[in-house]
Amino acid sequence: MSSTDGVIEVAHLSKSFGAVRAVDDLTFQVQPGRVTGFLGPNGAGKTTTLRMLLGLVTPTSGSATIGGKPYRELDKPTRTVGAALEAASFHPGRTALDHLRVYAPQAGVPDSRASEVLDLVGLSFAADRRVGGFSLGMRQRLGLATTLLADPPVLLLDEPANGLDPEGIRWLRVFLRSLAAQGRTVLVSSHVLSEVEQTVDDVIIIARGRLVHSSTLDALARLALPRVRVASPHADGLAALVAQAGWETAPAEAPTPGRVELLGVDAATVGAAAFAARLELSELTPHDPGLESIFLDLTSPAQDATNGVAR
Ligand SMILES: Nc1ncnc2c1ncn2[C@@H]1O[C@H](COP(=O)(O)OP(=O)(O)O)[C@@H](O)[C@H]1O
Ligand SMILES: [Mg+2]
Repeated sequence: MSSTDGVIEVAHLSKSFGAVRAVDDLTFQVQPGRVTGFLGPNGAGKTTTLRMLLGLVTPTSGSATIGGKPYRELDKPTRTVGAALEAASFHPGRTALDHLRVYAPQAGVPDSRASEVLDLVGLSFAADRRVGGFSLGMRQRLGLATTLLADPPVLLLDEPANGLDPEGIRWLRVFLRSLAAQGRTVLVSSHVLSEVEQTVDDVIIIARGRLVHSSTLDALARLALPRVRVASPHADGLAALVAQAGWETAPAEAPTPGRVELLGVDAATVGAAAFAARLELSELTPHDPGLESIFLDLTSPAQDATNGVAR
């Protein structure tokens, strides 16, 4: 194995459908041994990006490679990459086992592998049921089973949590974590951060085809730390209080004297310290943005304006 095995690399990738710029100069990397969330609202360009990674859509420009090669140049593509794209269609008259047996030769594995992967995704109980009667959650599991047929080191899963109930989401979390723990590259898209926030190590967030954030989940979570907005008519006194207490301040877009946002401290502590210092406050507001609201901020159209990005 070389060090680039299993690494997904997208560089300056763009795709236009007529006037629609579905993917716009997108650059990111995905590492093996980790679960990476590929996040963005509906229409952000997630599926189009995954389709380009799989050679199903030709990029307008830029490149998308897996282990250093475009999908079409991989020696054994089905043994290298397992993909479940959204709206996977299953022949409704086939049973789950039949479906997997149809795909087994394509994946280069014996028929017996079909029941193994059904077992892996907890669908053995429905092996002989027709797929037409499956719930969305069962279809998701069957899609996942199909991607695992050839035991590939790289998994691309498009909205795998869609349609799962809370129990299914918990199961998916444990399952994806175990796949990454085996050293696999696991890229999983979602339009809801909260759906995957307990599953992913890294996040790549896109909106309107563009990258808006890429980091570890921990680094993203720091943006969402609880904070306290504090204001005082005595700007110098406030600055002195903050410095003396050693509180961390959140970076402000437009710093204003007499106004700060403090991280990692609660309102009661700030109020008590201000009282002890005989400092008058005009505002003391606790604020817990939460990850989902950070996600909405990052992906909202207004964000383009603050980034100075022409639309
Ligand atoms: N085959 C296509 N023809 C025309 N427009 C498309 C096609 N596929 C996707 N799009 C458009 O590209 C944009 C991104 O779509 P998509 O990649 O499906 O986003 P996501 O998966 O993030 O919801 C949307 O505006 C969508 O309508
Ligand atoms: Mg999609």
